[in-house]
Amino acid sequence: MHAITIPKPGGPEALVWAAVPDPEPGPGEVVVEVRASAVNRADLLQRQGQYPPPPGAPAYPGLECAGVVAALGPGVTGWAVGDEVCALLAGGGYAERVAVPAGQLLPVPAGVDPVDAAALPEVACTVFSNVVQLARLAEGETLLVHGGGSGIGTFAIQLGVALGATVVVTARATKHERLRELGAAHAIDYREQDFVEEVRRVTDGRGADVILDIMGAAYLPRNVAALATGGRLVVIGMQGGRKGELDLGMLLAKRASVHATALRSRPVAEKAEIVRGVREQVWPLVESGKIRPVVHARAKMADAADAHRLVESSDHLGKVLLVR
Ligand SMILES: NC(=O)c1ccc[n+]([C@@H]2O[C@H](COP(=O)([O-])OP(=O)(O)OC[C@H]3O[C@@H](n4cnc5c(N)ncnc54)[C@H](OP(=O)(O)O)[C@@H]3O)[C@@H](O)[C@H]2O)c1
Repeated sequence: MHAITIPKPGGPEALVWAAVPDPEPGPGEVVVEVRASAVNRADLLQRQGQYPPPPGAPAYPGLECAGVVAALGPGVTGWAVGDEVCALLAGGGYAERVAVPAGQLLPVPAGVDPVDAAALPEVACTVFSNVVQLARLAEGETLLVHGGGSGIGTFAIQLGVALGATVVVTARATKHERLRELGAAHAIDYREQDFVEEVRRVTDGRGADVILDIMGAAYLPRNVAALATGGRLVVIGMQGGRKGELDLGMLLAKRASVHATALRSRPVAEKAEIVRGVREQVWPLVESGKIRPVVHARAKMADAADAHRLVESSDHLGKVLLVR
């Protein structure tokens, strides 16, 4: 088969479409014939040599895919060759075929295009595990989503709204209109406005109950300042650095909490648990049309370098797909 390889880490040109050995399904695994994958921010770091695949994961980038079940390994039940699926991967999505633990497969939701389904697994699992399972966002609460126009952000807006929360986002101004269409009640231009002031203004001084953060250190003090009493800050990205100052006095006075999580390195059993939760609680929202994949562009998988340039520019809104 062919896959995107990274013979030498570097810029987008480091991505090379090359012939590689076919994957074999191990016990409990399924081989998926890939129709499409999607670019995640983490793939850019992997390409630069800064985010190596976890042990046992395929060497090629790609944290999610959609396609058709092509082969079953020993012990797999509940799936059959020919099933239309999408999957959460530890790597290897930028390829014609990928082996994946069966617990990380999801059916293509009814009503979703089988290629666009590649836009869902990583964002659904990340947002669900953090905003629902960890931060326990409740109806009537306020969710602040940093980077509302990201793949993660566009999904978080829709899930927050579906759960009955008021969603506030930060994003560059050109993305605000589309983010309001997706359900954001307020959009903050982080380049011109102070998000702490804005969040306080739109919540009558209360602050945000849950913050989904991708900026890390750069936003840590202001995120804690923007939290409501009992608020939960969940950091999933470090685009603004990894070491910041945490005002424990403010956290204590607010009885608030700070969490940080990564999905890719979790054990297979934990990923299966998250995927099960997504199938039970999120897929019905997708099938009813309350949540839709937000696809900015489709590129040919062999032209992954162009797709990486686009995502690096952040000019996209939602997901950029890589199609065979
Ligand atoms: N921990 C995990 O398990 C996990 C899983 C998946 C993703 N992530 C993280 O989640 C983040 C989003 O991933 P993605 O693939 O969806 O990324 P993406 O589509 O490439 O989006 C990145 C976003 O960052 C925004 N941004 C840049 N500077 C900002 C700032 N100062 N304030 C607010 N937003 C800013 C950009 O928005 P503008 O155009 O508006 O500037 C852009 O929409 C990444 O940091 C990624 O590493 C973590």
